Amino acid sequence: MRVVVVGTGIAGLITAYRASADHEVVLVTKAELAESNTKYAQGGIAAALFPDDSAASHIEDTLRAGDGLCDPAAVEVLCTEGPQRVRDLIALGVEFDRAADGELARGHEAAHSHRRVIHAGGDATGLAIEVALLRAVRALAVEVHEHTFMRELVVEGVEPRVVGIEAIGPDGERFRIAADAVVLASGGAGQLYRHTTNPGVTTGDGIAAAFRAGAELADVEFYQFHPTALAVSGSPLVSEAVRGEGAVLLDEAGERFMFAVHPDGELAPRDVVARGIAAAMARQEGRPVLLDATALERAHGAGFLATRFPSITQVTRENGYDWAVEPVPVTPAAHYWMGGIRTDLHGRTSLPGLFAVGEAACTGVHGANRLASNSLLESLVFAWRAADALGAAAGDLDTPAARATRSAEWVPAARATRSTDGATQVVEERRAQPDASRDRRTAIQHLMWESVGLEREAVELRAALDRFEQWEAEFDTVTDLENRNLLDLARIVTRAALMREESRGAHDRTDYPETSPAWAFSQGWRPAAPATV
Ligand code: SIN
Repeated sequence: MRVVVVGTGIAGLITAYRASADHEVVLVTKAELAESNTKYAQGGIAAALFPDDSAASHIEDTLRAGDGLCDPAAVEVLCTEGPQRVRDLIALGVEFDRAADGELARGHEAAHSHRRVIHAGGDATGLAIEVALLRAVRALAVEVHEHTFMRELVVEGVEPRVVGIEAIGPDGERFRIAADAVVLASGGAGQLYRHTTNPGVTTGDGIAAAFRAGAELADVEFYQFHPTALAVSGSPLVSEAVRGEGAVLLDEAGERFMFAVHPDGELAPRDVVARGIAAAMARQEGRPVLLDATALERAHGAGFLATRFPSITQVTRENGYDWAVEPVPVTPAAHYWMGGIRTDLHGRTSLPGLFAVGEAACTGVHGANRLASNSLLESLVFAWRAADALGAAAGDLDTPAARATRSAEWVPAARATRSTDGATQVVEERRAQPDASRDRRTAIQHLMWESVGLEREAVELRAALDRFEQWEAEFDTVTDLENRNLLDLARIVTRAALMREESRGAHDRTDYPETSPAWAFSQGWRPAAPATV
């Protein structure tokens, strides 16, 4: 069969690699092949690979971080199949760092009860994986379309089925790619927020298109904010592995503040640390807190930070800091979307013919808060499974009964009819980011950051929803395609955040500060009237 894979991070490349043994594969990306969130992943990939560790312990840590909303069956798949998939990755040429004894070196990250995070190039794990997988995929007969933007999914039939994608090519030409199955590996939507560790390509295109086509989304109110982005333009990530090695957080008076928030201090779950930092920043009029890694240099010898964390060392230097001798300013930033297109344990979505993998998918492994370094692992494990399930007969969404879900219909606001012309303009606008497009994006990002960010409450969420609906009518959503996707997703996230009247994991409602057993289910969303192409 012919399979279109959209996205070229770890999830897309694993799918393409694995599927190409049995199927004709077409790989589509809106940027260059290597550009994706994967390339920027630092900390590593978590797996129970070592004799003192176990899948059961990894499962327990993942469930605890997920704050009651993980799908236990999905977590079991993740943690039990993970070690073999990592060995497969090594066989594909990824060179993980080794300790002096030749064994895999392992790092520690928050909320893991064992050191189980393996890494490559010190803190350039994602890049090492991306390079190795690109090499593997390039050696295969995979048709590649770079700079090709998926505008919509093509759905046909009385019993709707995805039969391809509508795309806009590098020269603005608009065309369809027919497929027996489409796999969305198109990543998350960090660009929803004013501060994000994600690159500019993360505009949630696959998730928005899947929703418009009628696929169910889930857990969209849960957006993870990484505690420590360097507080400079572009919010570059400072890996959690730095705190895992022993770096500490200080307020501007030089005091550690995290132990007053949680007994695990700097290594508390990510949502707790991010909120602890936000509260400390609020006490000092919004100024960033400090990450102090200087003790590591003293403990392990001069040059330790540059050797263990070369990418972070470089980015701190570029911004005028020498973190070997001084603390650096850090702030939370949007990092990872736990929600996405709901899938079963084989990447199948609620829409026949459509699969989703990686950050675009909601497999249920992350629940309300993802455990550090589980995202590359999820991509690897579930993309592998999805590729193997492609040939199987499409059935109903095989959602495990263990996960309590509730689904609601969502009626999109009236939108100007989409024209079929102007394709060239679309591509130029996307590349050049002219002022109007940039201003629209900035407006969405600021409102999301202020009203649908680390802390939420009903009055602001309602006001944000009204503004988004107003912009829906005012913005150019016909040709400004990435912003159209962001606006669609902003509305869905805001609506879901408003609905969930409790605080859980990454979703913090100041007007509903408690976790409520009545909300121990995953919210699903489908459009009332799917758009047809
Ligand atoms: C990090 O290195 O802190 C990021 C790892 C992750 O997001 O899992």
